[in-house]
Amino acid sequence: MGRLIIISNRLPFSLDREGDKVSLRQSSGGLVSAIKSYFENTGAQRGDLTGKMWIGVADFPQDDWRQVAAAHAAEQDFDILPIFPDKDVYDKYYNGFSNSVLWPLFHYFSSLAEYEGPYFDAYLQMNQLFAETIVPILEPGDQVWIHDYQLMILPHLLRQKKPDATIGFFLHIPFPSYEIFRLMPTEWKKTLLHGVMGADLIGFHTYDYVQHFLHSVKMLLGVDNYFHNLQYQDRLIRIDLFPIGIDYNKFHQMATDPEVEEIRTKIRAQFEDRKLIFSVDRLDYTKGLMQRLSGFEYFLERYPEWREKMVFVLNVVPSRDTIPAYNDRKKQIEEKIGTINGRFSTISWQPLIYRYNHLPFKDLVALYQAADAALITPLRDGMNLVAKEYVASSLGRGVLILSELAGAASELSEAILVNPTDTSDVANSITRALAMPLYEQRNRISLMQRRLQEYDVFKWVNDFMDQLQQVKQEQKKQKVKVLDERTLTSIRRHYQRSSNRCLLLDYDGTLVPFSRIPSEAAPDNSVRDLLTRLSADPKNHVIIISGRDLSSLDRWLGSLPVTLVAEHGASTRPRNGGWQQMVSVSDLWKDEIRRVMQAFVIRCAGSFIEEKTNTIAWHYRNTQTGLGFSRSRELLNTLSQLIQNTTLQVIDGNKVVEVRISGFDKGASALRILGDMDPDFVLCLGDDTTDEDMFKALEGEGYTIKVNNGASAAQYTILSQQQVLPLLNSLLVPINTNTPSETLS
Ligand code: UDP
Ligand code: G6P
Repeated sequence: MGRLIIISNRLPFSLDREGDKVSLRQSSGGLVSAIKSYFENTGAQRGDLTGKMWIGVADFPQDDWRQVAAAHAAEQDFDILPIFPDKDVYDKYYNGFSNSVLWPLFHYFSSLAEYEGPYFDAYLQMNQLFAETIVPILEPGDQVWIHDYQLMILPHLLRQKKPDATIGFFLHIPFPSYEIFRLMPTEWKKTLLHGVMGADLIGFHTYDYVQHFLHSVKMLLGVDNYFHNLQYQDRLIRIDLFPIGIDYNKFHQMATDPEVEEIRTKIRAQFEDRKLIFSVDRLDYTKGLMQRLSGFEYFLERYPEWREKMVFVLNVVPSRDTIPAYNDRKKQIEEKIGTINGRFSTISWQPLIYRYNHLPFKDLVALYQAADAALITPLRDGMNLVAKEYVASSLGRGVLILSELAGAASELSEAILVNPTDTSDVANSITRALAMPLYEQRNRISLMQRRLQEYDVFKWVNDFMDQLQQVKQEQKKQKVKVLDERTLTSIRRHYQRSSNRCLLLDYDGTLVPFSRIPSEAAPDNSVRDLLTRLSADPKNHVIIISGRDLSSLDRWLGSLPVTLVAEHGASTRPRNGGWQQMVSVSDLWKDEIRRVMQAFVIRCAGSFIEEKTNTIAWHYRNTQTGLGFSRSRELLNTLSQLIQNTTLQVIDGNKVVEVRISGFDKGASALRILGDMDPDFVLCLGDDTTDEDMFKALEGEGYTIKVNNGASAAQYTILSQQQVLPLLNSLLVPINTNTPSETLS
């Protein structure tokens, strides 16, 4: 491997200036916590890294950086490359598009999203600035890992300049359901998806986010996935879930740290035997602070026996405070805290202690350890590392009350899970937590600790990097298969040398593009002319091998001296003869299948049935994207059950589900033809599932070429149907060893 280059908007630190003195302060947020932990623990890093670098935006002046850069380089074994953008552009990109469009929308606060054109322009500009900074420093072998919603277009911008680069992308926030994502202006949402798809591996925290992303890609870019892999343009891309972990040992080992112990003892002494509830979050409307306070207020009201016996320490970390949606929230929160304290405090007790500041690491861990319960109730959260840190820091006691809407909830099922908007649920959960017996606390905590220890931040990074390398390997294998000019030239040479050639050509999606209405896919002059010229050469035997019914093939191509194979081999017309039926079975079986398919036609507008002599097909090319696909899965399932123990076969084709009698397919037909003619040159082109039978059957017999990328048994692929006619035409052009070969496109 080479260097690991982390790219995020936020650098791991900010700079504070007091007079002449500049000092470093760690940035807040889960992204920085995770990556910084990885970078700082050299022992747990991959051994094959040759260097580490972090590139991000400087929220400090260049002069301040100059003062501390050398000291930082001496202390840390990773390089920092700060970007100094134009202030106005940065403001529109960071406060504007990132945090007033993407952040609210992706967290389901769609009413807070401000769809301002200049915000999007600035977002593009900043992503471009990142690309311009990174491209010149990239070296072969570098692993580029781009993080989060601020840089969704960057993967594509890098890919444009460095087509072979290894690029990963990870989203630290939720990816919303398509119904939310589609609210954005169409150009923006397509640009964002296309941007992310510049990466080789795209990671999310949870299964739901992966599904939402795949759904949006399907709806907006029209790309299907197969087992989390996508074929986009000419590249394989993998989309998967990698739930981010924490540096478990760093938190857990703090149990015996003398300084932490001292702070913890002080805290406990201050609260005497009162129970302590704790929470810490950035000031953010997604964190559900107002709802949490309402739940707490209701708890005090409903369970008066707990008054004076507990204290809630609410720590809020400053964040994005120039955005009104944040600043307004601060005022509301502070007012609410005043109201609660005013209402319930006594001379010797105040229920809420509020702090608005950054917490030093050891203070934070001491609070985690001292707390009897942590109340973490975001309305939406990509993951929520605070919840994981609380569990990891525990000395075997303590209860985690966690929002079921945080990504972490899917891993921390032993927490008390609450709905943050349900005040009585929150209030009840607090009493349940405070009254939970110690053995139960210990049991729940240790189960969660085991899980967090197993998949910590080091496993998270290494897992992501392993997968990234795997995708690159698979891409390389695939690349070998794309038909290049050299291979084409050698196929043409072979063609020229041979005297008994067999050309097996699929029809729809190969010789002609797909048509919305199958009966309208007649061949145009260029196809007819090509087939005429090919079959005019007595050395050639052209076979059109199709799933089409006999009468369509006969009508469109019957006058040409080519062999026609209809319905995957059920009927054949030799070039010099009449049609022959290869199957003699009653077609009563079709009644039952037709009945099932008709029900799906009603349930899926735009779909229709095509009935042929020996097969029956349900087409969904003209249906609403998504619905057609989902109905086709249902139909496949229903049909598969129906045809069990029969001689029928169901095929999942390109926007079509087809049932036919088993025992004949394009592979068997192709072999039969080959057996009759003993050719010295075989070329086979096809694009669909049923062509795979041919590709498999012809292994070692000739050249097999799949049209359009995707998993295939064919030897080679060409990227689009438009390349088919030029390829076949090139066979007719005599090859001169002194002239360069024509191009495919
Ligand atoms: N944190 C911090 N400064 C503080 C308090 C907490 O940097 O003053 C850290 C905390 O330890 C955690 C991260 O900020 O690692 C918050 O991550 P989380 O995923 O909970 O939420 P985010 O802020 O990323 O939305
Ligand atoms: C979340 C985001 C991060 C961001 C962090 C802090 O964790 O996923 O990308 O860095 O919040 O927010 P800030 O705007 O201060 O970088």
